[in-house]
Amino acid sequence: MKTIGVLTSGGDAPGMNAAVRAVVRLGCEKGMRVMGIKRGYNGLMYGDMYEMNLRSVSNIINRGGTVLYSARSPEFKTEEGMQKAIEVCKQVGMEGVVVIGGDGSFRGARDLSLRGIPCVGIPGTIDNDIACCDYTIGYDTAMNTVMQMVDRLRDTTESHDRCSVVEVMGRRAGYIALNAGIACGATTILIPEVDFDFERDVIDRMRRTQKTGKRHFIIIVAEGIGGVSEMAARIEEVTGIESRATVLGHVQRGGCPTVRDRVVASKMGCRAVDLLEQGIGNRVIAMTKDEIVDYDIFEALNMTKSIDLNLYKLAHEISI
Ligand code: ADP
Ligand code: F6P
Repeated sequence: MKTIGVLTSGGDAPGMNAAVRAVVRLGCEKGMRVMGIKRGYNGLMYGDMYEMNLRSVSNIINRGGTVLYSARSPEFKTEEGMQKAIEVCKQVGMEGVVVIGGDGSFRGARDLSLRGIPCVGIPGTIDNDIACCDYTIGYDTAMNTVMQMVDRLRDTTESHDRCSVVEVMGRRAGYIALNAGIACGATTILIPEVDFDFERDVIDRMRRTQKTGKRHFIIIVAEGIGGVSEMAARIEEVTGIESRATVLGHVQRGGCPTVRDRVVASKMGCRAVDLLEQGIGNRVIAMTKDEIVDYDIFEALNMTKSIDLNLYKLAHEISI
């Protein structure tokens, strides 16, 4: 392929810039014309794009967010929107597109592929909720951000003998909550993948640890469960322990990407260009058992993955 495009779509994630950089650098090295498409599928539908060169991606590997900007684009889901995008691809001579985003963005890439524009997806989302991937770009940075924020909360929670109920992101998945919860030494972690009983899993656990001398508590709640304000109020009412709710929110999406996110993003970006150079599209890049692999995009979207229940058990065994 001689001309390819790259876009970032859906919720931004730290490390997306490292992936863009890798696509642009390797693409240019291979003699391709690389178009940077702005604001995800919106830029593709309206031709908002520019030709990138080796220097357009200088000084971005260390930056959170995405220099190409991102968007959620409902119009692109319509046949009309899709046709607009295809028309732009034809006009620009764009033979393939690298789509960096979550599974919604991959569904868009699948639909474009079905209409003759080969796409390669790169998993970029803090949620780590893409079935074919053990790991998604941004997940490591987000977990580290949560850990740092909850460490700060622990200081004040301990000073006041309180309970902090903290909501973390993840959409319908509990990966951030589970892993950051372990790293923060949470008393209880509530995730959508595991049924819980408020009395048993929150109140009784707090009481049990209280008997051994514990005076402050951190409860991590995935956003897929939510309701942290009500939970904090209920804990205070039932136990008499002063409680505060904190929703960490979008702070989890920003910040300087970790080494892991930068390295994985760089590898995935290069793999995407290698595929498109060979004329191979309709693929999703993934990380499986620490190896970079790729799957057929249809197969990838039909895969399922489940959370590590042993890790969930372990988390609660050691948080007493
Ligand atoms: P993410 O990629 O992070 O999962 P979204 O679910 O918001 O984020 O998807 C990003 C964009 O991908 C959407 O705004 C839309 O343009 C496109 N998209 C999402 N779902 C579909 C779908 N089923 N078919 C076509 N395009 C889709
Ligand atoms: O997918 C990333 C994510 O941050 C989710 O964790 C969260 O549910 C969602 O995006 C928030 O979306 P928005 O930025 O559109 O509010």
